[in-house]
Amino acid sequence: MDVLAIHDLHKAYGAKQALAGVSLRVDAGEMVGFVGANGAGKSTTMRIAMGLLAADSGSVRWNGAPLTFATRQRFGYMPEERGLYPKMRVVEQVAYFGKLRGMPAAESAAAAAKLIEQMDVVAGPRDHVQALSLGNQQRVQLAAALVHDPQLLILDEPFSGLDPVGVDTMADVLAQRRATGTGVLFSSHQLELVERLCDRVVIIRSGRIVADGTLAELRQAGAREALEVTVLADPSWTDGLRGVRVIEREGNSIVLALDDPNDDQAVLAAAIAAGRVECFGWRQPSLAELYREAMSEASEGE
Ligand SMILES: Nc1ncnc2c1ncn2[C@@H]1O[C@H](COP(=O)(O)OP(=O)(O)OP(=O)(O)O)[C@@H](O)[C@H]1O
Ligand SMILES: [Mg+2]
Repeated sequence: MDVLAIHDLHKAYGAKQALAGVSLRVDAGEMVGFVGANGAGKSTTMRIAMGLLAADSGSVRWNGAPLTFATRQRFGYMPEERGLYPKMRVVEQVAYFGKLRGMPAAESAAAAAKLIEQMDVVAGPRDHVQALSLGNQQRVQLAAALVHDPQLLILDEPFSGLDPVGVDTMADVLAQRRATGTGVLFSSHQLELVERLCDRVVIIRSGRIVADGTLAELRQAGAREALEVTVLADPSWTDGLRGVRVIEREGNSIVLALDDPNDDQAVLAAAIAAGRVECFGWRQPSLAELYREAMSEASEGE
C-alpha cells in the first residue's frame, strides 16, 4: 500500500528553528488535514516532502524507500506561492504541467480539458490565466496538481480564497481521488472544513507535532468538560449534587461541569430518579475546540 512517511524532520533558517522533529504519515486513500498557526511549519514540511527544500536532518520515504525524482513525479503539489504562468491559456497551462510530469502531449491536453471542466473553472477557451479571478486561478492550480493522476497529493492551503461552491467542488474532486486510493495531505486554517473532510488531523505547533489522530481519537484524548443532560423534571433536580455546576440551562436541557468526570454515573442516577432522561452525554468538542486545547497544553509544556 502506498504510504508517505515523514520522520523526525529538523530544519533551521539561520537562528530560527522552523521544524524541531516533525513526523507524520499519509496512507493510500487517506485525507489528512495539516493544521497549525501561521509560521508553525506546515509549508516548510510540505516543501521538504516535495524535495524543494532540504531538511537539516530526518527522512521522507515513499513505500519505505527514499524519494527519487521518479517517485516525486508521481506526486501532485499545490504550492503556497501559486505557480501559474500568467500569460498562458488555461487549458494549455494545465496540459503543460502534465507534460512536465512526463505525460504525452495529447494525453495531457485531454486530461487538462477534462479537469478544467470538472473544476467548473469560469474562463473562456482563449483566456489567459491572469484574466481569471483569484478563486478561478486556484481551481486551475488544483487542476495542474491533478493532471497526471498522482498517487499522492500535497496541497498547501488549497481552499483559501474559494467561495463556498468552489470549496464544495474542490472537496468533491479530492474525495473522488481519495476514493481511488490517492493519499491527500492538505494544510488549512478552516477547521470546520478540515473536520468535515479529513480522515485524520495532524496539529503542528512551533515546528512540533502536538496532536495526530482521527477526530474520534482526538476527542477521546481531550478532556470531558461539559455534560449535556435533558430530563423532564423540575430543574431543581441538580441542587445538592456535590462537585457539579450548571454552566448552561435552556428549559429542561442543562449543561454541567463536574469536578470529577467520573461522577457522571452518579449524575445519571440522580437524573433518572428525577424524571424521564431524554438525553445524556459528554459534549463532543469541535476540532476548533480541540485545537485550542492542544495549543494551550503545548504552551504549558514549554
Ligand atoms: N525562506 C525562509 N527564510 C527564513 N525563514 C523562513 C523561511 N521560510 C519559512 N521561514 C520561517 O519558518 C517558520 C515556519 O514557516 P512556514 O512557512 O513553514 O509556516 P506555515 O505553518 O506554513 O505558516 P502559514 O500558516 O503562515 O502558511 C516561520 O517562523 C517562518 O518565518
Ligand atoms: Mg504556509
